[in-house]
Formats: sequence, structure tokens, C-alpha cells
Amino acid sequence: MKFVLYTSVLNQEQYDVLAVPDIVKTARTQNNIHGITGVLLFDGLNFTQYFEGSEEAVDTLLANILRDNRHKNIIIVLTGQQEKRLYNDWGMGYIDISDNQVDIDGCIAAADFSVDSFKRKISRLDVE
Ligand SMILES: Cc1cc2nc3c(=O)[nH]c(=O)nc-3n(C[C@H](O)[C@H](O)[C@H](O)COP(=O)(O)O)c2cc1C
Repeated sequence: MKFVLYTSVLNQEQYDVLAVPDIVKTARTQNNIHGITGVLLFDGLNFTQYFEGSEEAVDTLLANILRDNRHKNIIIVLTGQQEKRLYNDWGMGYIDISDNQVDIDGCIAAADFSVDSFKRKISRLDVE
């Protein structure tokens, strides 16, 4: 099972927050087809996304995401292989962190950062 965790910024020059429901809708349909699960966090400007699946599915999705004009400044925080899925329930869970105090940047910057610590950090947030 391969996974990717990245951050990016909404391309505000050409899109606004109304692009986000579209992104989530497509993601859910496509991810179910391709066996991708994960979670997308959005604070009104910045995205943080974690996704996992077969190597082929993850590589294809990453290539799509990297050339998607709706966001920019994409930084791959962590990628690798793991034994099991972290998310079984969601094609792509969505978490609005705009009025939340969760410190994703701090979590990602932490010396002991791992995908598990990321999941622990966001596990108390409501997935839509
Ligand atoms: C922040 C962000 C997250 C995205 N997450 C997904 C996702 O989880 N699954 C997905 O299929 N597409 C996602 N997309 C959309 C892809 O970039 C791409 O548009 C989609 O895979 C369709 O590609 P295609 O038109 O080449 O088939 C996301 C786009 C953005 C900007």
C-alpha cells in the first residue's frame, strides 16, 4: 500500500473556494473506482491531503494532482509504503479546518512527524 501526504495552496488568482466542493465530489467518485482512500483538509486557502492505495493508483492520482491548476505550491511532505490502510471508510473524507485551531503546520514540522502522528492529530476533527 502506497501513501502520499502533501500540502498545497488554492490558486486564488483563477479560482475561489467554490472550486472545493467540485474537487471533493470528483475525488469521491474517482477514488471509489480506483481503490483510493484518504482525507482532505482545507482551511479556506491551504490544502493538506493524505491518500493511499495501490502503487499504480497512487502514482496516477499524484500525477493528476501535480498538474491540476486549481492549486499551486504543492509540497510532498511524506510518501512511502505501509502495511495497512489508515482510512477504510472514505473515498475522500473532507475536513473544513477554517474555524479550527488544529496546528497542521506544527504537526508536519514536528521532529517525530509520521503519518500516524498526522492521523492522531486530525482524528478528533469531524469528517464530512
Ligand atoms: C486539492 C486537490 C485534491 C484532489 N484530490 C483528488 C482525489 O483525491 N482524487 C481524484 O480523483 N482527484 C483529485 N483531485 C483532482 C485531480 O487533480 C484530477 O482533476 C482528477 O483526478 C481528474 O483527472 P482527469 O481529468 O485527468 O481524469 C484533486 C484536486 C485538487 C486540487
